[in-house]
Amino acid sequence: MDRIKITGGNKLNGIIPISGAKNAALPLMIASLLTNETLTLENMPHLADVELLTRILGNHGADYSVNGRREHQNGSYERTVHFTTKNIVDTTAPYELVAKMRASFWVIAPLLARAGEAIVSLPGGCSIGTRPVDLMLDSLTALGANIEIENGYARATTKGGLTGAEFTFPKVSVGATHVALMAASLAKGDTIIHNAACEPEVVNLADCLNAMGAKIEGAGTPTIRIQGVTSLNGARVRVIPDRIETGTYAMAVAMTGGDVVLQNTRSDLLTSALDVLRQTGAEITDVENGIRVVRNGHGIAPVDITTDPFPGFPTDLQAQFMGLMTKAKGTSHITETIFENRFMHVQELARLGAKISLSGQTATVEGVERLKGAPVMATDLRASATLVIAGLVAEGETTVNRVYHLDRGFERLEEKLSNCGAEISRISG
Ligand code: UD1
Repeated sequence: MDRIKITGGNKLNGIIPISGAKNAALPLMIASLLTNETLTLENMPHLADVELLTRILGNHGADYSVNGRREHQNGSYERTVHFTTKNIVDTTAPYELVAKMRASFWVIAPLLARAGEAIVSLPGGCSIGTRPVDLMLDSLTALGANIEIENGYARATTKGGLTGAEFTFPKVSVGATHVALMAASLAKGDTIIHNAACEPEVVNLADCLNAMGAKIEGAGTPTIRIQGVTSLNGARVRVIPDRIETGTYAMAVAMTGGDVVLQNTRSDLLTSALDVLRQTGAEITDVENGIRVVRNGHGIAPVDITTDPFPGFPTDLQAQFMGLMTKAKGTSHITETIFENRFMHVQELARLGAKISLSGQTATVEGVERLKGAPVMATDLRASATLVIAGLVAEGETTVNRVYHLDRGFERLEEKLSNCGAEISRISG
């Protein structure tokens, strides 16, 4: 298994191109199952999760082709991928595939809406909490689906198609909002979703569905209205920039010091996280087609955060922010409200010399003068990025094991960081 070796101490200076968002690419790819025409997705990230979902979609009948991997002057790569599902050839998403990536459960919506049946494995336990699927299934039930749970599979069926409905999610869920949007787009009549997720990835999906002929209004607000249509067509849609990748590199610069332009991204995708970073002492400004992050000299100021649904501080940046706070000049409190058990990185950060104590859903981080390199283990996608951030300032060598977690969500991470002066490399095998 690959490892990443980092020798800490270098500042970051230069340009980091930001990739298309994994969390937007996945639902857009799944939406391609809703039409027999071609959905073309620009700015697709090249990631293990995208490859896996491509295989899953292939199982249901999707063909795909990739347009080059053109390198631009600024070092970014553009990948455009075309997905075409002439016919749904299989309505079952098996355990072996769904268990590897939770988001693949969302295929339940297009399979049901287009083929009248979906048999999808329940995703099972996950390392960052129980993450049930009840909200997704409830929204499909509200739209008239019949749901049965049998042998670890959810079997959703509809006789004569789905029907529009008005319902309120008891909790904000990105995945459940995606599922409801896709299903309601092909339902008969109108749907109103209350307490919908407002994340930019939901807006990207709604824009994609509208480009395919759906009639959706209000995405990006808690109330979304959908007028069902009988069929959807092909379209060409651009994946939004990855706000989590953007925030991760912004935190890396805030940690190491230096001056980096994050290119092909937008500050409005992560306003709350950038505001917090400013409070820690980083200077952050908008530049053409990107964001400039500068931190010189002064120590890192401690800041308390609580994760919240968008536009709050994203849970997917909580671990990285904790990495930054391990070197703050004082004590900070980090409260996780979205997922239980999303503090596995605490133990690994402690191996580098961080001082963190946990009480319920709050971590208290006492900043230390220095971190010291050590072998550490990536436990999930975002936790892995934290260990890299900490490794960039730890004295001596840090080796991050189980790098496959990073490969799920960060495209060419070592290349992007080493181009800015970090001493980081991948050890294969
Ligand atoms: C998505 C993101 C993930 C991010 C999360 C929250 C993708 C591929 N993943 O995950 O990176 O951390 O949003 O921003 O986009 N819940 C239920 N029942 C359900 C569905 C969710 O109780 O049916 C709960 C979850 O356990 C969690 C909360 O709702 O406590 C929010 O989860 P949700 O927004 O659904 O996360 P995902 O869509 O899985």
